[in-house]
Amino acid sequence: MLELKNLNVKINEKSIINNLNLKINDGEIHVLMGPNGAGKSTISQAIFNNPLYQISGQIIFNDERIDNLEPNEIANKGLFLLNQNPIEIEGITNAELLRTILSDREEKTIDIFKFNKKMESICKNLDIDRKFIHREINLGMSGGEKKKNELLHLWMLEPKFIILDEIDSGLDVDALKTVTSSINEYYKQYKPSILIITHQVKLLDYIKPDYVHVLQNGSIVANGDKSLAKKIEKEGFYQFKSANIVSEDNASE
Ligand SMILES: Nc1ncnc2c1ncn2[C@@H]1O[C@H](COP(=O)(O)OP(=O)(O)OP(=O)(O)O)[C@@H](O)[C@H]1O
Ligand SMILES: [Mg+2]
Repeated sequence: MLELKNLNVKINEKSIINNLNLKINDGEIHVLMGPNGAGKSTISQAIFNNPLYQISGQIIFNDERIDNLEPNEIANKGLFLLNQNPIEIEGITNAELLRTILSDREEKTIDIFKFNKKMESICKNLDIDRKFIHREINLGMSGGEKKKNELLHLWMLEPKFIILDEIDSGLDVDALKTVTSSINEYYKQYKPSILIITHQVKLLDYIKPDYVHVLQNGSIVANGDKSLAKKIEKEGFYQFKSANIVSEDNASE
């Protein structure tokens, strides 16, 4: 369903992602792991065509190139990114933004009664106050509350492809359970494809991945299943250093 073909990403002429290939089929859950600065978040930004980055290669979603689309057009195709650091938007409430997106998408006025009911029930499931419905987007929210607020958007927008960039960072033990069970419930209902970006092997005790990939210096250096994550937990990312040197040698040939 989503395919990255020979993806290269640069910022100010500095190469961050090198010739990366990745294919994620319908309903699959993939995990991307890697040390700080490996380029994990950059991949998620590239998928959404963040204009800060110079991107080349192909990004294909449901047999269609999306690498030349604007971020809002990409979102309208059914992709959703939960940012590592969700941005605060002053002056626009959750309800205002979500109502606008949904009525634009459905090209009709939405049923406010149903809309509010759905928002209230999601807030309840996420263990956040229903006042969140009318709060400005992520403004003044704690780190954990921001992650839950983004999940409120996810449930309202019903995307088919989800990228969760460090969903677990900043969550206390109870919030981690609430958030992961919300994601599992969403998966059960909608069967989306999910790309999880994380350092924490512990997250994989809550969400079961089909595939695990390791990113080092902008290249994928290992692929496997959950056992690969367990190996990283024991031995760290350092073990992949030699694989990385090999790929650098190849690149310079
Ligand atoms: N806007 C930017 N300006 C300058 N450098 C950037 C920018 N975005 C990314 N980089 C650089 O690209 C590299 C990869 O960053 P990225 O955020 O993708 O790493 P990451 O794997 O997500 O790390 P972490 O696990 O810490 O979140 C880093 O060296 C970072 O400094
Ligand atoms: Mg990151």
